[in-house]
Amino acid sequence: MSDWPFANPVLTASGCGGGGRDLAAYGDLSTLGGFVTASVTLEPRDGGPGPRIVETPSGLVNAVGLQNPGVTAFVGEDLPALLALGATVVVSIAGRSLGEYAELARSLGRTEGVAALEVNLSAPDPAGAGLVDAHEPFQAASIVAACRRDLRGGVALLAKLRSDAGRMVETARAVAEAGADALVVGNALPAAMPDGRPGGLSGPAIRPQALRCVAEVVCALPETDVIGCGGIMGADDVRAYLTAGARAVQVGTALFHDPTTAFRLVAELGPSAGEDDT
Ligand SMILES: Cc1cc2nc3c(=O)[nH]c(=O)nc-3n(C[C@H](O)[C@H](O)[C@H](O)COP(=O)(O)O)c2cc1C
Repeated sequence: MSDWPFANPVLTASGCGGGGRDLAAYGDLSTLGGFVTASVTLEPRDGGPGPRIVETPSGLVNAVGLQNPGVTAFVGEDLPALLALGATVVVSIAGRSLGEYAELARSLGRTEGVAALEVNLSAPDPAGAGLVDAHEPFQAASIVAACRRDLRGGVALLAKLRSDAGRMVETARAVAEAGADALVVGNALPAAMPDGRPGGLSGPAIRPQALRCVAEVVCALPETDVIGCGGIMGADDVRAYLTAGARAVQVGTALFHDPTTAFRLVAELGPSAGEDDT
C-alpha cells in the first residue's frame, strides 16, 4: 500500500468540517491528521430541502443530501483553498454508478495534493441520494476495485463502510481484498427527520455501536488499518477506538457543537497516539 498519510490519528469526518475555511477560523488545519471533505460527486448537487439538520437528545439527524459543487469546481476552488491552509486532504467520493466512482478516482488520483480518497459506500439513504447500491459485499468490492484500478500510486484508498450492515465483517474483508488501504467504520445510521424524511443519525448515540464494529473488524482483519468514526466527543472516546484497534479516528458531529474539538483532541492526545505499534 501507499505510505500511511496521516501524521496523527485525529481526522475530521466527511461533511462535518465545511469547505475547511470556516473550520480554519478555530485552529490550524495542518495540525490535524487529515481533513476529509464532504462527499464529492461528478456533477454539482444542491442537496435536499431544509431543515437539513436537527438535534436529538444524543446527536444529530441530517438530511443534507450530499450537497457539493461537483468535482470540477472542487478541484478548481475548494481543493486549492484546503491545500493553502496546509491540510492533509482526504477527498470523499460518491457515485451513481460504478463508472462514476471510477471516473472520480481517475480524475482526483491525478490531481496534485490529494493525500487519500475515501470511497463513500455507506450513505444512510443511498437510494434517496441516487447512489449506486453498495449493500452487498460484492457490490462494495466492485466499487473499490474500480477505484483502485484508476488511482495513481501514492494516493491512499479508504473505504467507508456502514456499521449497521448485517454482513459488516464480510464487506470489510471484500473491500480490503479489492484493494482498500484502510477501512473507515462507520457512517451515520439510517434514521428519520421529524417530518419523516430519511436521514442519518450521528453523534454520541451511535458511538457504542460503531465501536463494537471496529472491534469486530480489527479482530477479523488484524492486518488491515481501521479508522473509527462515530460519536467522538472527547479524548476518552478516541482512546476507546484506539484501544479497540483503530489506527486513527474521525470526528464529525462534535464539530457542530464545538468546532475546536478536533484541534483540542490533537493537542490532548499528542502526535504519536495510536502509532506505538507501527
Ligand atoms: C451534517 C453531516 C453531513 C455529512 N456528510 C457526509 C458526507 O458527505 N459523506 C460521508 O461519507 N459522510 C457524511 N456524514 C457522516 C459523517 O462523516 C460521520 O461518518 C458520521 O456523522 C458519524 O460520525 P460522528 O458521530 O462523529 O458525526 C455527514 C454527517 C453529518 C452530521
